[in-house]
Amino acid sequence: KGIVMSGIRSTGMLHLGNYFGAMQNYVRMQEDYDCYFMVADLHTLTTHPDTSELKANVHRVLAENIACGLDPHKVALYCQSHIPETAELYLYLNMLAYKGELEKTTTFKDKARQHPENINAGLLTYPVLMAADILLQRAAYVPVGKDQEQHLEMTRNFANRFNHRYGEVFPEPYAFNFGEQLVKVPSLDGAGKMSKSENQNATIYLADTDDLIRNKIKKAKTDAGPTEPGTPKPDYIENLFALMQLVSQPDTLAQFEKNYNDAAIRYGDMKKQLGEDMVTFIAPIREKAEAIRQDEKYLREVMEMGAEKARKSAQATLEKVREAMGLKYY
Ligand code: TYM
Repeated sequence: KGIVMSGIRSTGMLHLGNYFGAMQNYVRMQEDYDCYFMVADLHTLTTHPDTSELKANVHRVLAENIACGLDPHKVALYCQSHIPETAELYLYLNMLAYKGELEKTTTFKDKARQHPENINAGLLTYPVLMAADILLQRAAYVPVGKDQEQHLEMTRNFANRFNHRYGEVFPEPYAFNFGEQLVKVPSLDGAGKMSKSENQNATIYLADTDDLIRNKIKKAKTDAGPTEPGTPKPDYIENLFALMQLVSQPDTLAQFEKNYNDAAIRYGDMKKQLGEDMVTFIAPIREKAEAIRQDEKYLREVMEMGAEKARKSAQATLEKVREAMGLKYY
């Protein structure tokens, strides 16, 4: 069985991007792979030093993962800070990561621009901590969205540097998606991707109520529509079609595509349909997650069970790492 590892930060409510970029793949992989899925609470601290909502957010990520179909008896579902081995491997890998490459990372540059008052060393070495998560489980497949591709490339670089210097310990991990390409779910305003913290009106969360979902889609940007057949779609219209492809029936999508190409589309109708299909998709997940979130005892059992499994394989990897590095003195 191939080893799979991935993580989601506990920075707030999960959204459609997290679902289609990550969680959908987790659920599909759980039968055929050896899976490790984690709440990245330590990564959360690089940008969210206030921990007053951390516990609720960790519980939320766990509950939403389970509500989407993850079975904690089939996969290790755990919390990053429950695996102290992570910190040790992170330290070793830091010696193989160069300041220049870390400073060039896109996510670092973005976050440094957004929060110039908190450009901390943890933020700079974010990709190293992520590499530690992945390499600790010696994973080969990492289901993530498009925005994480560069971090995976860096993880391979760190792994290769380690293997060259100290001997072969780590397999090369690759970003994984069941489709051909990694996924990027666009935001409703036609600018960028859906994200947990930016523009909440342009992001659809798995916890949004039916009316909120309908309203957000109703307000999505459109225009007067194409005036002649065969007009190319502007970005914000392309995005609506992309969302429809994710949650609507194929023949529904095909009908609106045809209407667009015939320059006969009515965006009001399209958004109404998309709103209903989105509600049908999200409501059962929201309701299940809400119930699971109430059951703290169950969530504790899940975390303990997951951490036990993840620590076992982490400890075995660290043994190999220390041995390869020559850190055994007797
Ligand atoms: P995070 O919490 O930002 O995102 C979690 C997952 O959701 C995906 N994603 C998206 N996919 C498609 N379209 C979008 N709009 C969209 N927004 C988010 C992300 O690609 C990701 O797969 N660094 C990771 C957390 C992490 C991790 C790891 C991942 C920590 N350690 C080890 C894999 C392996 C992150 O920021 O996730």
